[in-house]
Amino acid sequence: MTSPILAVENVDSGYGDVQVLDDLSLTLDADGIACLIGPNGAGKSTVLRTVFGLLTPWRGAVRYHGDEIGGMAPEDIVRAGIGYVPQTQNVFGSLTVEENLRMGGTARDDDLGPVIDELYDRFSIVSEKRSAKARTLSGGQRQVLAFARALVMEPDVLLVDEPSAGLAPNTADEVFADVEAVNAMGTAILMVEQNARKALSIAERGYVLDQGSVAYADDADTLLDNPEVSELYLGG
Ligand SMILES: Nc1ncnc2c1ncn2[C@@H]1O[C@H](COP(=O)(O)OP(=O)(O)O)[C@@H](O)[C@H]1O
Ligand SMILES: [Mg+2]
Repeated sequence: MTSPILAVENVDSGYGDVQVLDDLSLTLDADGIACLIGPNGAGKSTVLRTVFGLLTPWRGAVRYHGDEIGGMAPEDIVRAGIGYVPQTQNVFGSLTVEENLRMGGTARDDDLGPVIDELYDRFSIVSEKRSAKARTLSGGQRQVLAFARALVMEPDVLLVDEPSAGLAPNTADEVFADVEAVNAMGTAILMVEQNARKALSIAERGYVLDQGSVAYADDADTLLDNPEVSELYLGG
């Protein structure tokens, strides 16, 4: 067994004095996709914010390559190799696509040209629109830009919050294909999704969150086949 690239261990976390996460544990394999599903308000986004250093764990540990990163500043976490694509406000509408990509690389001190060219090769939409203001992009195009922007840092782990939210089914499918493509290039992905069946179908590992705790943790296929999970969390 290989050790996970990311491990959340018995974490409590929350906002001010309001606790949201309660003894939450999960792992992500270095080459894997893990997804977090569960009802609105379960604490899925709070998990990503806690891993990314936007919230400090009250208890427990967040380990990246085995090292404790809980409470490190987000900019240091980015430099260490973890990227984050928040659900909303994940691109700057008044900046061009290219400017957004360059902003994604401000923590790098080398020339961004080669990595941005590579991203243009991989994401044709982003390449075709490089001089357009991000606010003129469609929802799906914006989501792809948000990914590409996080990939400028060439992260080992990408945290992605509801990439398909608000997208038409076809566009959502394209975004899921992009998630798989990014993973195939060697980035481990921890993804939060409302579209639970779809997310589980591309993930190896799944976690069902309910009221800040892990209600089910299993191989994604096993979760999909679990009648209780299906009934309670996958809409039957
Ligand atoms: N900035 C915040 N301040 C206070 N409470 C928050 C904040 N963000 C989220 N919460 C609360 O934390 C709980 C979990 O929220 P969240 O992690 O966003 O859930 P999910 O992503 O699963 O829908 C909810 O009760 C929500 O109201
Ligand atoms: Mg959320």
